[in-house]
Amino acid sequence: MTRAIVLAAGKGTRMKSARSKVLHEICGRPMLWYVLRALRAGGVDEIIAVVNDELQAQIDAFGVASVVQSEQLGTGHAVKVALDQLGARVPGQIIVACGDMPLVPPELFAGMVGSLAGGADMALVTVRMPLPSNFGRVVRRDGTIDRIVEVRDATPAELAIDEMNAGIYAFDEAALREAVGRLRDDNAQREYYLTDTVADFVNAGKTVKPVLAPDYLNVLGINDRVELARARREMNARLCAQHMRDGVTIIDPDATYLEPELRIGCDTVIYPNTTISRLSEIGEECVLGPNSRISNTRVGTRVTVRESVVVDSTIGSDVSIGPYAHLRGQAVLGDETHIGNFVEVKKSILEKRVKASHLAYLGDATIGEGTNVGAGTITCNFDGEQKNATIVGRDVSIGSNTSLVAPVTIGDGALTGAGSVVTKDVPAGERVAGNPARPLPKK
Ligand code: UD1
Ligand code: MG
Repeated sequence: MTRAIVLAAGKGTRMKSARSKVLHEICGRPMLWYVLRALRAGGVDEIIAVVNDELQAQIDAFGVASVVQSEQLGTGHAVKVALDQLGARVPGQIIVACGDMPLVPPELFAGMVGSLAGGADMALVTVRMPLPSNFGRVVRRDGTIDRIVEVRDATPAELAIDEMNAGIYAFDEAALREAVGRLRDDNAQREYYLTDTVADFVNAGKTVKPVLAPDYLNVLGINDRVELARARREMNARLCAQHMRDGVTIIDPDATYLEPELRIGCDTVIYPNTTISRLSEIGEECVLGPNSRISNTRVGTRVTVRESVVVDSTIGSDVSIGPYAHLRGQAVLGDETHIGNFVEVKKSILEKRVKASHLAYLGDATIGEGTNVGAGTITCNFDGEQKNATIVGRDVSIGSNTSLVAPVTIGDGALTGAGSVVTKDVPAGERVAGNPARPLPKK
């Protein structure tokens, strides 16, 4: 049983934002989401987040226990607040991590979970990083770790040290409880520094073990929006790399925007400027993009989406969409349908082999198998007060520039002439034309 404290109560002043720092998103998820996911995947089974009032109001979405640190008196104080809430469980170990470090991989936390096994009382992740850096410096004496010094308290010689404190720790719980009780705020920031526990442990003859992380990118903390953008780029690169390894061709990963928890089938090709988001599932052998957005949508196999927006929809297989189409609001496209340029489909079901190739609006409609929707067709679904349904049967031919004034039903095999304004139901097999549309003489 391993517990973790996630520090997330800081004001995040440098973000210059009304929103709590850890709620800022990278690749469609708040940074705190990534930290919690990595901790859980790393083997931590109980997590408490130290939050401020603003974050507390939104913490339910994360499924994590929390405690409010009403005054941000420093990282050491934040840990004390969490320990008071948790109640003692000794012997035991506690991991401490920061909520503003979304790039930490689960393996790093997993390594910390086991880090005290050899008898250490504390372990901390250190990392070599190019200077200058705002990270606390790891000061060693005769090769062993002696203390951490924060940048604002450091001498020029200490600032030249390139081994940093990443801000990830494992503590023996009993020792941690004693040490935080002894922290003082006699430093440049007048804060209780968690990092002062290192010197405290060393002075008490306890063992502090450094765990060197190989790549400082993994432990980049986010303090402002420049760092937020850099972290997003890194996370996106990881997401793209994972899908490419799983068999997806991504023409330009720098210009492809993905999120966690997407499914993309192998041999799908993604062209630049394409965003796929919100739990979308894409089948195999699709061609997506360029310049497309697919969100919260299930897409079958061999589907082409070119220069189009597809949101909250379900797409069958062998479908072609775009260029310049817009699907939204639970649009459902059956297999082998074709949606062409400047066609908008909202809350409509298009059954197998329906074609709407040019310039149409289909809203609140059901369109039967094999029907062809002519260029310029509009479902007039809104009467000023409410939305009304249009039902079109199978193998119907809707002529160019037809207005279907809903509620209206067109029977199987019917036909509307170009420019028809259909205000009344059309029986199966009937041919209508005109404004308002009337039956044409039988052939
Ligand atoms: C801290 C470390 C520094 C380390 C760096 C790594 C201390 C004193 N310094 O500095 O050695 O190199 O992390 O990123 O710990 N927080 C609270 N309550 C508070 C203050 C902070 O919950 O009262 C939280 C913040 O929300 C943040 C984390 O603790 O998630 C770290 O705080 P931050 O102010 O960013 O510390 P750094 O200056 O980055
Ligand atoms: Mg920080």
